[in-house]
Amino acid sequence: MIKSLIQSMAVCPDMNKVYPKIDYGKGVYIYDQNGKRYLDGSSGASSVSNIGHGRSEIADVIHEQVSKISVLPTHAFSSGVVENYLDRLVSFAPAGFSKAWTVMSGTEAVESAVKLALQFHQIRGDFGRYKVISRWNTYHGNSVFMLDIGGMKIRRELYSQWLNNFPHISPAYNYRRPDGLSEEEFVQSLLVEFETTIVKEGPKSIAAFVAEPVIASAMGAVPPPANYFVGISRICKKYGILFITDEILTGFGRTGKNFGMDNFDVVPDIIAAGKGMSGGYFPLSAVIASSHVTQPFVDTKTTFLGGYTFACNPVGCAVGNAVMDILERENIIANAQKMGALFLEKLKVLNEFEIVGDIRGVGLLCGVEIVQNKYTKEPFPASLAISKLIGEKAIKKGVVLYPGRGSVDGLLGDHLQITPPLVINEEQLDEIVDVLKECLKEVMSEIKKTTVSYESIES
Ligand SMILES: Cc1ncc(COP(=O)(O)O)c(C=O)c1O
Repeated sequence: MIKSLIQSMAVCPDMNKVYPKIDYGKGVYIYDQNGKRYLDGSSGASSVSNIGHGRSEIADVIHEQVSKISVLPTHAFSSGVVENYLDRLVSFAPAGFSKAWTVMSGTEAVESAVKLALQFHQIRGDFGRYKVISRWNTYHGNSVFMLDIGGMKIRRELYSQWLNNFPHISPAYNYRRPDGLSEEEFVQSLLVEFETTIVKEGPKSIAAFVAEPVIASAMGAVPPPANYFVGISRICKKYGILFITDEILTGFGRTGKNFGMDNFDVVPDIIAAGKGMSGGYFPLSAVIASSHVTQPFVDTKTTFLGGYTFACNPVGCAVGNAVMDILERENIIANAQKMGALFLEKLKVLNEFEIVGDIRGVGLLCGVEIVQNKYTKEPFPASLAISKLIGEKAIKKGVVLYPGRGSVDGLLGDHLQITPPLVINEEQLDEIVDVLKECLKEVMSEIKKTTVSYESIES
């Protein structure tokens, strides 16, 4: 069981598979050794190459910074390039944020944010707060600790004996909200579930709540229903729980705003960012904290115990700085907003296919959910690996998607996440839509020919 689940995941290089070898990338395209061109509708491992591939000016920045200094004895020194970039990160965050530092991966950033929350409570004498609430079917990183906080059953199963320390609540999955509930009633039920969980666990035992603004790869770009996060934030404040937003995938323009949560009128206490902040030109992630979280550390002269060898690395900061220059100079976040709205409109043409259940997203974080029956929303059996099949077909036709599954209950449910570089133009969006149409058409006819279970689609 575990073996087959792991084989079906799209993320890691598969030891049993020979991948086409990519030679280089330029803009939204990557090119393999035979010169075949692919539109990178995934942007690396989803939402990384936000500024596009092959920016030689970043190579120059790296060369210049490495020639000067590539690593600092950070226990004793800082540097201008680091300080300037950290200040810039703080300015990029909502008002009220005061400190930032960088680490290397998204997993490290979210874990650091959680550790910061724990230590915040400790230094204020709130020793009982250690639990973290998060949501099922969400991903917050691949260390054992972050798998425990996250809610992806497929990824958790192998490590289950090491996990299950923290409570989880339902994701806000509007497409599959219970029949008969309005969106408003659904939100109310989710908020009741959150508050009930807090009360049951003991409000004084909860350190933080962690959520992605738009649930990305684990569910395929699921936006929250209206006012959901306003309610979540209110409940966090009521019980003294820190609200951490995992903006690893949604940050730095992906949703058409600086951060994904900026779309929902809510300011969190701590932000974890990664992926697109370096455009993929250097492993870089960050924690950005609001002043009311950092002030107790200042007042009590307490050091945050979150150090890493490559924290606040000057090369990473130089790259991050150059990426922000490009984002601003080329108005890339505005392009993401404009192209995102257009793309969602264009994707609606896929509704003509019986197996397209939902089309959703925010900005250029878009998803298509594939179902066996549009009307009952019944998913395909996991054994058919439909999203993977569509993803493979798309690659053959020159478009890279990010297929995934598990949105229904952690195991069932197929989706295609689409997160092209934010520099994409309308013609290139059409290229993705055309390939998607061809793939869906082919898959429909193949399923009709081969599966017994397909009968239910037509009944
Ligand atoms: C929402 C979210 N959080 C955390 C992570 C972990 O980031 P990384 O793979 O850089 O450790 C990811 C990676 O896909 C992610 O999408």
